[in-house]
Amino acid sequence: MMECSWKVLVLLVFTSLGIQYTAIKSLRTTMMSSCTNPMAENRCGHLKDNITRALCEDANTQQSRKHILIFATARSGSSFLGQLFNQNPDVFYLFEPLYLVQYTLANRHPAIDRRSLLGAYRDLLQNLYDCDFYLLENYIKPTPKDHVALSFFRHGASNALCSPPVCEQLERLEENICSKKCQRINLTLASTACRSYKYMAIKTIRIPEIDHLRTLAEDPRLNLKIIHLVRDPRAVLASRISTFVDQYRLYQIWNSSGKMPHNIDLNLIKNMCIDYSKSVETAFSRPSWLKGRYMLIRYEDLARDPVKKANEIYNFVGLEWKDNLTAWIEENTNASVPSNVNKYTTNRNSSETVENWRLHLHFNIVQAVQDICNKTLSQFGYLLVDSIHQLKNLSQTLIEPRVFLPFI
Ligand SMILES: *[C@@H]1O[C@H](CO)[C@@H](O)[C@H](O)[C@H]1NC(C)=O
Ligand SMILES: *[C@@H]1O[C@H](CO)[C@@H](O)[C@H](O)[C@H]1NC(C)=O
Ligand SMILES: *[C@@H]1O[C@H](CO)[C@@H](O)[C@H](O)[C@H]1NC(C)=O
Ligand SMILES: *[C@@H]1O[C@H](CO)[C@@H](O)[C@H](O)[C@H]1NC(C)=O
Ligand SMILES: *[C@@H]1O[C@H](CO)[C@@H](O)[C@H](O)[C@H]1NC(C)=O
Ligand SMILES: *[C@@H]1O[C@H](CO)[C@@H](O)[C@H](O)[C@H]1NC(C)=O
Ligand SMILES: *[C@@H]1O[C@H](CO)[C@@H](O)[C@H](O)[C@H]1NC(C)=O
Ligand SMILES: *[C@@H]1O[C@H](CO)[C@@H](O)[C@H](O)[C@H]1NC(C)=O
Repeated sequence: MMECSWKVLVLLVFTSLGIQYTAIKSLRTTMMSSCTNPMAENRCGHLKDNITRALCEDANTQQSRKHILIFATARSGSSFLGQLFNQNPDVFYLFEPLYLVQYTLANRHPAIDRRSLLGAYRDLLQNLYDCDFYLLENYIKPTPKDHVALSFFRHGASNALCSPPVCEQLERLEENICSKKCQRINLTLASTACRSYKYMAIKTIRIPEIDHLRTLAEDPRLNLKIIHLVRDPRAVLASRISTFVDQYRLYQIWNSSGKMPHNIDLNLIKNMCIDYSKSVETAFSRPSWLKGRYMLIRYEDLARDPVKKANEIYNFVGLEWKDNLTAWIEENTNASVPSNVNKYTTNRNSSETVENWRLHLHFNIVQAVQDICNKTLSQFGYLLVDSIHQLKNLSQTLIEPRVFLPFI
């Protein structure tokens, strides 16, 4: 009954609105039975009051909708993992909505503390999983008028937002085509569309630790499934150095000279590894709030055998496999085109590039990361190197075979 406490709150609101007692009573019966019998069909049909029935139906759809969170870090392959959901027409997918929160709040309150930021992240996720886009409007610039946004961060990366009824029918679902053709997003419509999907998936790289997801994981309405994506921190660093040129400028210098600049910020590495370690330590301790909700994926395993791993992920979240997904994966993990054109594309020869960082990172940096992250590396089965020869000899893999079973 604890699980239904939010519904009791709804009932209280209804009471205070003075809605007739019989309606409340039947609503209570319906909702309470939906808590014990989630598969029951047409639980709301007998409700006479239109508003009451609409609310009842909405509560029930949300309860049967599955909510997925891709919990990742920057440059760990999360765009690719996100695509595995985005390509599925049953999934309403959102690409990093928390970017807008961070960007807006950091501009408005430069000294904003981590706790407030995390609270804002959590509130937005909660709203979005409810298919409620109005809180998001606070973070969109220019401020939407009549709930119509003139685009927002990477909305073109969401096939659902690039399809009818939110957007016209496009010839091809491609981010740049969509961003051009569907510049205006009617968020009321997006919200309605969202409610018709059986699954909602959100990818974010802005939640540092899994503990910050506890409130969401404990919300029984969400039935949240967390896919925790990790990648060898040495590979992540190599990728960040060449992607985030300004922030990692001193690392670039370190990489080309082999000498560590004295004013370098090693926290950029340290924090990633601390967050990785804390999260798996929490997850591997199997707390009840993660039961049935947690799966760890190493990017390297996904890249080496994407169809197999994607199948495991689909099984875990209870999504039905689509045959054209196999074709999409093959096309997008097996291209001869190098990925330099657009660093965010997922179009690359993934089995070949997965350990390529070893050719692009100075041995001194590798050693420094190994010192800082030794615990983290061993937790995930990433092997250390102790010589340049070993680092550069790609026929010896640094990825130890490991099986991480989902926590079910
Ligand atoms: C409730 O909905 C029905 C059909 O959708 C409509 O005929 C009826 O007028 C509505 N009642 C109220 C009070 O709005
Ligand atoms: C947005 O869509 C809703 C639902 O279809 C519609 O009622 C509303 O008029 C639209 N808003 C604008 C500004 O077009
Ligand atoms: C896969 O097929 C479904 C229909 O079965 C279609 O809606 C979807 O767009 C297709 N996806 C791709 C990537 O071709
Ligand atoms: C990638 O392409 C090669 C050559 O066409 C093929 O042999 C291989 O099976 C493909 N691998 C995947 C994972 O599709
Ligand atoms: C991708 O890389 C693998 C491993 O090096 C290679 O066998 C395959 O031929 C490559 N595929 C393409 C299309 O370049
Ligand atoms: C590091 O430096 C080497 C040699 O100058 C270069 O080939 C490589 O691309 C650099 N790596 C990164 C991540 O920038
Ligand atoms: C990591 O390095 C520290 C300091 O050198 C050492 O005390 C610790 O035992 C190492 N941990 C692992 C797991 O190797
Ligand atoms: C690379 O490692 C493989 C496997 O251990 C070994 O057989 C090979 O000789 C090494 N290559 C070089 C250039 O050291």
